Amino acid sequence: MLVVIVGPMFAGKTTELIRRVERYVIAGKRAIVFKPSIDARYDSSKVAAHNGLKFGAYVVPPDEVGVETIGKLGLDYDVVAVDEVQFFPPRLADVLNELADGRVVIAAGLNLDFRGEPFETTMRAMAFADKVISLTAVCKVCGRPATRTQRLINGAPAPKNSPRILVGGGDSYEARCRRHYVRPA
Ligand code: ADP
Ligand code: TMP
Ligand code: MG
Repeated sequence: MLVVIVGPMFAGKTTELIRRVERYVIAGKRAIVFKPSIDARYDSSKVAAHNGLKFGAYVVPPDEVGVETIGKLGLDYDVVAVDEVQFFPPRLADVLNELADGRVVIAAGLNLDFRGEPFETTMRAMAFADKVISLTAVCKVCGRPATRTQRLINGAPAPKNSPRILVGGGDSYEARCRRHYVRPA
C-alpha cells in the first residue's frame, strides 16, 4: 500500500507521517523513516515537524544514490516512510511504488513549489498512490484553509526567478489560501 501525504508547508505532513509510523511501531512492525540530507532545519538525523515533534530518520542524499539506498534498505522493513519527497528525483516514486507491493509505504511532500508549479516527484508518487491525504495549513493572512506556500523576502513575495530549492521555515515561508497567495512575478 502506498500512502502519499501532500499539502503546502505547515499543513502537518511531517506530523501525520510520524503519527502513522508510530502506530505501526506500536503494532510491532519494523519501520524505517528516510529524509533527504538537504533538510537539516531542526535536526540532522531526525524528521522534525514545525511543532517540535521528531522521529529518528535515516538520512540519504537527494539524488539517484539516495533513491537506490531507499530501494535496497526498504526491502528489510514492513513500513517504509520518506519525508520531503519533492527533493528526490522522480524515480523515487517508481521505487516506492515497487516497495509498496508487500509493505506499507508512506511518502510526504510538497505538491507545489513557491511559484505554484507542481513538484514532479510528488506528482508521480500521487499518481501511483493507493491513498492520497491532502492536508491544508492555515492562511497567515485570513485564517482560512491554506493550499499554497508563499516564499517571502523581507516580507515581500519572492520573484519567480529565485531558486526552486531554498530550505527554510517560518523565516522565509507562509501558508496562504488561493485568495491571498500572490503568484510570483
Ligand atoms: P509540514 O511538514 O506540512 O510543513 P509539520 O507537521 O512540520 O508540517 O508542522 C505542522 C505544525 O506547524 C502545526 O501543528 C502547527 O503547530 C505549525 N504551524 C505553524 N504555522 C502554521 C500555519 N500557518 N498553519 C498551520 N500550522 C502551522
Ligand atoms: P515542509 O513541507 O516540511 O514545511 O518543508 C518544505 C521544505 O521545502 C522547506 O525546507 C522549504 C522547502 N521549499 C523549497 O525548497 N522550495 C519551495 O518552493 C517551497 C515551497 C519550499
Ligand atoms: Mg515537513
